[in-house]
Amino acid sequence: MFFSIPRLLTVALLASVIPAHAIGRTERFRTVVTTDMEQDDLTSLVRYFFYTNELDTEGIIYTSSKYHWAGDGKGTKFFLPNREYNTSQTSWRWTGTRTIEDILLKAYAEIYPNLRVHDSAYPTPKDLLSKVKIGNVVFEGEMDQNTDGSNLIRSLLLDNDRRTLYLQAWGGTNTIARALKSISDQYSHTAQWSHLQASISHKAVILASGFQDETYASYIATNWPDLRVEDFSTAYSTWGFNCNGGQGNVRGLPGQHEFFTGAWIKANIQIGPLGRLYRSWLDGQHTPGDQLDVFGNYTLASAPGTWCKPLGPYDFLSEGDNVAFNPLLTTGLQDPSNPTLGGWGGRSKLNSSKPELWQLVASEKTANGSEVKDWTTNRWVEAASNDFAARMQWGLTERYGEGNHAPEVRIVGGGRKAARAGETVKLAARVSDPDRDAVTVSWWQYPEEGTYPGEIAVTSNKSNGASVKVPADSKSGQTISVILQGTDDGEFPLTRYDRVIITVK
Ligand SMILES: *[C@@H]1O[C@H](CO)[C@@H](O)[C@H](O)[C@H]1NC(C)=O
Ligand SMILES: *[C@@H]1O[C@H](CO)[C@@H](O)[C@H](O)[C@H]1NC(C)=O
Ligand SMILES: *[C@@H]1O[C@H](CO)[C@@H](O)[C@H](O)[C@H]1NC(C)=O
Ligand SMILES: *[C@@H]1O[C@H](CO)[C@@H](O)[C@H](O)[C@H]1NC(C)=O
Ligand SMILES: *[C@@H]1O[C@H](CO)[C@@H](O)[C@H](O)[C@H]1NC(C)=O
Repeated sequence: MFFSIPRLLTVALLASVIPAHAIGRTERFRTVVTTDMEQDDLTSLVRYFFYTNELDTEGIIYTSSKYHWAGDGKGTKFFLPNREYNTSQTSWRWTGTRTIEDILLKAYAEIYPNLRVHDSAYPTPKDLLSKVKIGNVVFEGEMDQNTDGSNLIRSLLLDNDRRTLYLQAWGGTNTIARALKSISDQYSHTAQWSHLQASISHKAVILASGFQDETYASYIATNWPDLRVEDFSTAYSTWGFNCNGGQGNVRGLPGQHEFFTGAWIKANIQIGPLGRLYRSWLDGQHTPGDQLDVFGNYTLASAPGTWCKPLGPYDFLSEGDNVAFNPLLTTGLQDPSNPTLGGWGGRSKLNSSKPELWQLVASEKTANGSEVKDWTTNRWVEAASNDFAARMQWGLTERYGEGNHAPEVRIVGGGRKAARAGETVKLAARVSDPDRDAVTVSWWQYPEEGTYPGEIAVTSNKSNGASVKVPADSKSGQTISVILQGTDDGEFPLTRYDRVIITVK
């Protein structure tokens, strides 16, 4: 019905090119970014570009939000109550539709020759540029017009690629909503509609950095109740603005504090053509068009009435929108088809099944058994921060040997195993490192991923193996999740994982 032969040919041609240095991966997740290009979107996009080797980026689309909209260029006034403005406006904090093309992708192009030395799967700057589109940007929540951005999403939803399409909402969900509505407008009166709607609801997943306009509530939730939507807004406590009481970059546990300090960010992240565009406190940068982006300037940021008390120079400011793509990154734990499993994006629970809405769990247990708020995302800060810093070095180094590359960490015959209560399960690890770094291996139970309610003993041995005693009181059908974690000793140590889920027979 929706056949596209050229796409099939393209896929076949790409698959025949065997890259020189390619990271082991089984599946590239297919994704679209929609962004209102606030300062924290820009910062998240800097990080995103360093991970484009792992993802199949099908679109990078400007959209509006309650915080940013372009206006129609004809002076039409717009107002919604309880916003940042008190009187009707002709546009609001709009940062334009050229930042991605003219600033970020130009910087990416400068480091691309180096990046591809470290992984030849990085897309060309031209390829990424061809994915940039303007979506529904005119007013907050506008979803009446088809736009280049909504048309692209529409065509991806209707194409014959069977992979899940992860639609990231970094701003409002309105461009995504428009794409869905344009399909509904065309097909809802046809005999194939219920089948088509079911297949699109199955194909699309919305990964939302909160809901930044009303189109989720007013259109998507009501008209597409079977389409899975995941709300990552509580992950802001790890990666977003953290202004309440001015506690700012004091996130997670004290051991992770370093990665949010100005000393670390200035030295390791805000470097090179792309990294220097990353944003931090009092770094002297400003997004043109956004009068509330005062974070770079102490005089402005500390003026009475500003909502976020400034921290020290170059301290972590906010990414915010990396929360939507962290679940897609290749760590060995990623399984975006199953939000109940943890990983760099955090572990979620179902809020409502119709409409299907998932939210991150509020807390998880640390290694000593204490329940800690936001641990589901904070627990990965050190690994994710080192990973980003290592990639920043990829962009600055011309030779493979000058960068650190992640170890390969696998549980032999991993995935799923079955065992009886009282039985001991032996696990073996296969660990290697492309740089021949030493890899420190650990095994741990991820209690919340399994259904067995207690703690279990995971005993590791010197040869990277481990044994797991399935508790005598465990019941048939209960599950136990065990994680293998390997960290290399390169500059910016890199961590990868594997998981086995043991089901009690
Ligand atoms: C809107 O009104 C509030 C309350 O009166 C005030 O604090 C705020 O500064 C006003 N905002 C603008 C953009 O005028
Ligand atoms: C910060 O903003 C103030 C007020 O607009 C301005 O006078 C000053 O030059 C700015 N400082 C820097 C370092 O840009
Ligand atoms: C679902 O989400 C809403 C909005 O965040 C929240 O108020 C409600 O408590 C959640 N319900 C459940 C069952 O978690
Ligand atoms: C457990 O670990 C957390 C996080 O490291 C720490 O804050 C807490 O004090 C520890 N609790 C005990 C009882 O050791
Ligand atoms: C360590 O565990 C692995 C996997 O169970 C096993 O193959 C190996 O024999 C064990 N080595 C030692 C020294 O116990």
